[in-house]
Amino acid sequence: MKYTIQPDVPAVETINLTRTYEALTALNALDLVVNRGDLFGFIGSNGAGKTTTLRILSTFLSPTAGQARVLGYNVVTQADAVRHIIGYMPDFFGVYRDMIVSEYLDFFGACYQIGANQRVQTINDVLELVGLHEKKDQLIGALSRGMQQRLGLARVLIHDPELLLLDEPASGLDPRARVEMMAILQELQKMGKTIIISSHILSELQALCNRVAIIEKGSLKYSGPIEGVGQDLSSHKVFRVHCGPNPESALPAFLEIPELVNPTILKGRISFTLEDASIDPARILHQLISAGVPIRDFHEEEISLEKVFMNYTSGETQ
Ligand SMILES: Nc1ncnc2c1ncn2[C@@H]1O[C@H](COP(=O)(O)OP(=O)(O)OP(=O)(O)O)[C@@H](O)[C@H]1O
Ligand SMILES: [Mg+2]
Repeated sequence: MKYTIQPDVPAVETINLTRTYEALTALNALDLVVNRGDLFGFIGSNGAGKTTTLRILSTFLSPTAGQARVLGYNVVTQADAVRHIIGYMPDFFGVYRDMIVSEYLDFFGACYQIGANQRVQTINDVLELVGLHEKKDQLIGALSRGMQQRLGLARVLIHDPELLLLDEPASGLDPRARVEMMAILQELQKMGKTIIISSHILSELQALCNRVAIIEKGSLKYSGPIEGVGQDLSSHKVFRVHCGPNPESALPAFLEIPELVNPTILKGRISFTLEDASIDPARILHQLISAGVPIRDFHEEEISLEKVFMNYTSGETQ
């Protein structure tokens, strides 16, 4: 059965979405919107609530309070429709080691009531897409971990879902397999799919996702374009200055300037922070030169996504 999707609905919308496990609030009033066509990164440390959210969106788990809609359909009252339009790849999934790759996909195709003839074509298509075509007749148990992950992805593509919910699809993969997995996801986005991918590695998703949400202990800390991550930290600038082989002798000049926060010697350079965005770094540079500091290099450090992540999250688990 084909479910119609209204053109103007977001891929995902949660309102006040809450899930408790006895005394523990795993998800705390989450308001999240994922637009159609997004490759959306869902980021948080261990126990943040990523899997809980994805399980609710894929109808495996019911919310304790609040609402979630997937392409306009309510995950509780219209769960059947939701199941047809999503593909959910759990963080751990068992594969049938004694099954042949194409049999496995054929089984899931049949579950989605795809006709026998059409299934042959569909299986070829999805295997081609995930780069597993040459393993079509192999036993699943003989596939490497990366190949099994790709097979997992092929399985969730078999019914041509609009929205993919992928729970840490790159975990356990070696760097090459990760890159390949990311390339497949980009390909799927180009085909018009909306993809939500969870990860606890913000930098991994930097090049991949156009939008991200960061959650911590069940609460949303940030949601928006990847470029906006850390923007609220951007008034806080860190500088590194190379002033020759003897930074110790230059340090007193830095300590003289009251606006410089915490000037310290780090790996042969002097680093300091400017907390007030209205301070012109050029003026600071001029003051240092006037004080006779032999400056060889003066630059602002890019805030790394890892630092941003550490700033958003406390690292506490509950
Ligand atoms: N079935 C359950 N019973 C009790 N508590 C649970 C259950 N499932 C999850 N939790 C708790 O809910 C919180 C959120 O867990 P969840 O699995 O959603 O986190 P996560 O962000 O996916 O973490 P990870 O990065 O480790 O996969 C955790 O504190 C976890 O212990
Ligand atoms: Mg998880």
